[in-house]
Amino acid sequence: MKNVHLQICDEPESLSRSAAEHLVHVAGEAVSQRGRFLVVLAGGNTPRRLYRLLTTGPFLERVPWQVTHWFWGDERCVPPDDPESNYGQARALLFEHAPAPETNIHRIRGELDPQQAAADYAQALRRFADPGLLWPRFDLVLLGLGADGHTASLFPGSPPDPGPDTATLVVTAAYAGRPTQRITLTPRVFNDARHVLFLVSGAEKAEALAATLEGPHDPVRRPAQRIHPSHGRVTYLVDRAAAALLKQHGEER
Ligand code: 6PG
Repeated sequence: MKNVHLQICDEPESLSRSAAEHLVHVAGEAVSQRGRFLVVLAGGNTPRRLYRLLTTGPFLERVPWQVTHWFWGDERCVPPDDPESNYGQARALLFEHAPAPETNIHRIRGELDPQQAAADYAQALRRFADPGLLWPRFDLVLLGLGADGHTASLFPGSPPDPGPDTATLVVTAAYAGRPTQRITLTPRVFNDARHVLFLVSGAEKAEALAATLEGPHDPVRRPAQRIHPSHGRVTYLVDRAAAALLKQHGEER
């Protein structure tokens, strides 16, 4: 894939530290230019260390909590206190240990009827919309990569981009025993972001990562290939195990 920045870290710990550095750097830039920082969080296990790190040491002081607004790229259709809730995970690891104002947390309401949850979230995005858009140009989007090539809840075989005004979709897909009903942002919303940061860790991701970055263009089978911001920058922050099948070497850390 073109215009993709690849950074390879030794192991998950240094990957998470680099992700935290990236987040506070982009946050500083966003606040100095626009007075606020709009960030989209990912679900899944990979960002768990990052969320914990943000509540400790230098990062806790460097996140501009009062002007940071937290969103999600996808959510499983479960209540917020369900162990499978992406919001619930961030709440437990991050928000309960940090001074994030409640009014700055914009979760997807997985406990609602899925269509209603998608509409409710699209409405929330409109309140932050950039001129000419129905959603904000996010400053930073965090994404994961599934071993099947999915990202957020854009799964292999999912339909092509919906209409230009559609910010959210209801999806049904099975993966790793996780809840099958989900809400996701559309590629269009991700691709309007200023920075997209994929976090990819572990040998079980090696094949999907190599196919996404170095395989033929096949966004139906490899949905992460749908993410290529038109005016933004995409970075794959990966550990050595995930990078094992890549031909390119990227920037080593
Ligand atoms: C989710 C996600 C999903 C995730 C990948 C990778 O709700 O499950 O947002 O897209 O990022 O499945 O998950 P892991 O980090 O657990 O491998």
